[in-house]
Amino acid sequence: MAKTSESTVIESHLTENRVFKPSKEFSKNAHFSNLAAYKKLLAQSIKSPEKFWAKEAASLLWSKKWTQVLKWKAPFAKWFVGGRLNASENCLDRHLTGPHRNKAAIIWEGEPGEKRTLTYHQLHREVCLFANILKRNGVKSGDRVLIYMPLVPEAAIAMLACARIGAVHNVVFGGFSSESIKDRIMDSGASVVVTADGGYRRGQIVPLKQNVDQALAGVKQVRRVIVFRRTHLDIHIEEGRDVWWHREAEYVAANCAPLAVDSEHPLFILYTSGSTGKPKGILHTTGGYLTQTAATTKYVFDLREDDVYWCTADIGWVTGHSYLVYGPLANGATCLMYEGAPNWPEPDRFWKLIAEYGVTILYTAPTAIRAFMKWGDEWPRKHDLSSLRLLGTVGEPINPEAWMWYFKNIGKSRCPIVDTWWQTETGAIMIAPLPGATPLKPGTATLPFFGIDAAIVDDNGKEVGPMEGGKLVVRKPWPSMLRTIYGDTPRFRKQYWSEVKGFYFTGDGARRDKDGYFWIVGRIDDVLNVAGHRLGTAEVESALVAHPGVAEAAVVGRPDDIKGQAVVAFVTLRSGHKAGKDLSEAIRKHVAQSIGAIAKPDDIRFTDVLPKTRSGKIMRRLLKQVAAGKAITGDTTTLEDFSVLAKLGAAQE
Ligand code: WT7
Repeated sequence: MAKTSESTVIESHLTENRVFKPSKEFSKNAHFSNLAAYKKLLAQSIKSPEKFWAKEAASLLWSKKWTQVLKWKAPFAKWFVGGRLNASENCLDRHLTGPHRNKAAIIWEGEPGEKRTLTYHQLHREVCLFANILKRNGVKSGDRVLIYMPLVPEAAIAMLACARIGAVHNVVFGGFSSESIKDRIMDSGASVVVTADGGYRRGQIVPLKQNVDQALAGVKQVRRVIVFRRTHLDIHIEEGRDVWWHREAEYVAANCAPLAVDSEHPLFILYTSGSTGKPKGILHTTGGYLTQTAATTKYVFDLREDDVYWCTADIGWVTGHSYLVYGPLANGATCLMYEGAPNWPEPDRFWKLIAEYGVTILYTAPTAIRAFMKWGDEWPRKHDLSSLRLLGTVGEPINPEAWMWYFKNIGKSRCPIVDTWWQTETGAIMIAPLPGATPLKPGTATLPFFGIDAAIVDDNGKEVGPMEGGKLVVRKPWPSMLRTIYGDTPRFRKQYWSEVKGFYFTGDGARRDKDGYFWIVGRIDDVLNVAGHRLGTAEVESALVAHPGVAEAAVVGRPDDIKGQAVVAFVTLRSGHKAGKDLSEAIRKHVAQSIGAIAKPDDIRFTDVLPKTRSGKIMRRLLKQVAAGKAITGDTTTLEDFSVLAKLGAAQE
């Protein structure tokens, strides 16, 4: 279709009027509690980001201070130029001399129920041991180490040990296949792999080492595989290549001085899949990344000394990197880590963990929240959740309905919810409320974080007015921004810096309301175009989920001769509701009432499951092909459950 002048204008029909102001009780002890003062500082920081970030960076430990805060030659940023530091020293050694020494850093529970606690002192020791194991196995500063582990403390230990000696970690989620491991090994040029014999998931053992063996067939580049014993599963040990973690530990010392690296030294590569093409190796560096993850953890989660903080993400995702490892540990926090599935052995495992460990902050994903809704309110009701004081979400727009459920059933209408918008590429939180100050509205990540110049623009880069939809961009560099796509700088320029001249393009469509709050309406590629009206998927999906029968929804466009696109909605039902013509009609009507006739789905397709990525994002690309009656093409390796395609009646090429 030809591009028209109004092509970027995304219409908005769904309005949300509920506002939740921070309670006095919460604000009393919060880092920020005065809205006017916060807004003033926010405006100043966006005007002069360098000043704000320099102050935050100064709270880290540097072995050599920087000479220049930012060197910016678009699209390349250097933060804290000339400074030297070590990320693992900042997360560990720094806490050993004061009251944090014997504080719990990681409280871990395995899926089968084992429990372990590592204090900062103990974690430091383990990291030193493993850093020496890496050295003993020939790993040097700048070398890439691939980590493919279950969610056990050793996964974080391996990451921090790499950072300690200047090696670059590349964590691959334990749910990925051998094919994905192989692609990432080849692309990153990793020479060492850290894995485990297996990990637990829904009562089964995931054969991690076996997947690594398959990935390495015919691959010469990998010299060493270090295997952590988690499950005692019988595995193959390749003589001359594979070594056991616990055996190696007998040969090394428990102290290892941290290597001070340049602020711009690579810390990690993390692959993220785009809708097309091979996964992109997102490269993050040290000083800026640590500064922004530490600052956002402190302010957005309003971290206090006595918090028990739980980020439910796997370390295979950026959320696990930034908010399970680097951000909280840099702040000396106590983190809960849980290995397994939320519904093992029953759908109340999360609530049980919260009650047992007295979790105060819970950070999870909308996809998990919708699953909890589907499983029923009785599961959280069984447990004492009164320790919670703050909730968070990340990963997708949260439907207002899911927000309200989370607020009422988990937070008992007491806990603020921080809806945090960011990306693998941004490294850390970019748009989010400060819970002691920002009035909340269900469904919006509210305002940018300090120093973040986010805006919504049209095709020409011109900022659009309130309630007008457009492209979400960031106009000034920020410390934890990706530095490039590993080995493919032309793609980095094209993907992020060519769509809107001079600005970073996020790929998301959004609008701002009259209070300046950001509402993400979905990926720009997914925006529907119905009879000349451009509609964001998030709004239509939120309207669908607000129907009492609907658990989850995904909306896509199907080519239509008359309207351009027809709206097709794939929905899963909440327990107790039956698919059929009546319900389908009722749901269509409901959407027409809440958004308008223009968004009324032409087609409702009931399904048991939606195709999701391993990180819980709905793969609308596949649904578009199903809706159009086409065969599925393109990359499906990130699909969580392959049987979904058959269930959707999709033909595969
Ligand atoms: C994309 C980034 C950042 C860690 C997890 C995902 C969507 C993320 C939100 C939110 C609306 C959100 C965006 C973004 N997204 N958080 N709070 N509200 N949308 O990282 O896999 O790199 O995905 O997730 O579309 O661009 P990722």
